Amino acid sequence: MKCKKCGKRAVTSLRAYRLSLCGDCYLDFYRRLVERSINKYKILKKEEKILLAVSGGKDSSAMASVLSDLGFEFEMLYIDLGIGDYSRESKEKVEELSRILSAKLNVVELKEYGFTIPQVRGRVCSICGNAKRYIMNRFARENGFEVVATGHTAEDIASFYLKNIAGNQQAFAEKLLPRIEPFDAKVVAKARPLFEISEKENMLYTIIKGIPFKSGECPYAPKPEWKEIVYDIELRKPGFTKNFVRGLLNRDRKPMETRYCSICGEISSGEVCSFCKIRMRFSSQSKGF
Ligand code: AMP
Ligand code: FES
Ligand code: ZN
Repeated sequence: MKCKKCGKRAVTSLRAYRLSLCGDCYLDFYRRLVERSINKYKILKKEEKILLAVSGGKDSSAMASVLSDLGFEFEMLYIDLGIGDYSRESKEKVEELSRILSAKLNVVELKEYGFTIPQVRGRVCSICGNAKRYIMNRFARENGFEVVATGHTAEDIASFYLKNIAGNQQAFAEKLLPRIEPFDAKVVAKARPLFEISEKENMLYTIIKGIPFKSGECPYAPKPEWKEIVYDIELRKPGFTKNFVRGLLNRDRKPMETRYCSICGEISSGEVCSFCKIRMRFSSQSKGF
């Protein structure tokens, strides 16, 4: 199999694009893909102060590397969730990434807020997601960042959407956009520069470029059933996932009601925000609110 661009030996065949490429041509192709998407949906601006949330996984590592290649300046944030070897190894990967990209790495430990993920009983993933979103927003605002970018992929967006629609949670599903502007002074803009890029594309980029990342799932991650459904559809209908997330952009959006948590003052959908409710469960170990 030969590269369709330069004729060298191809290392990959992209079914959705019916394109075979060699390593160098693939890196070029991927950069253009991300750049086109950022420009088309106005996901990030070069002049804004950007914080990248990096987990040590392939997607956010690919995001950091490609944004650096495209000339964006940023700092990175790693949230240490206190999950034993998993958090330690992930942190080592982001430290290595920070050295390679010469980008500042900030680390926040969840335990500063009084608990770690292994102490959580019950809905671990949803509590973890809530904690990460809270810390990303608060850290960004308190340190003068204008936007937080995460490495969510087309598969993340499509599977969240299907899961939420199936559970009749449309209000949540409405948030799945490439960029969300703040609706209040306490909220920092959120950006998803890889929202129409697939996991496979990120994986190829990290492997060909030799970018450090930690493989393997978090030990608390549930079986990713909705994602597997998305993979199955993609297998039968190449190109489905990207078309699906692009289709989500054409839907109507309603503004949200603004409320503040009576304990910490952060944005909340109720009297007390869900993060403070979690912290109250651990209040005996906390340094205080
Ligand atoms: P996940 O919630 O694990 O699907 O991750 C989605 C995105 O959230 C990643 O691509 C990262 O940008 C960000 N993220 C996840 N975990 C962390 C973490 N521990 N620290 C910083 N950012 C994270
Ligand atoms: Fe949050 Fe695993 S990373 S539960
Ligand atoms: Zn080539």
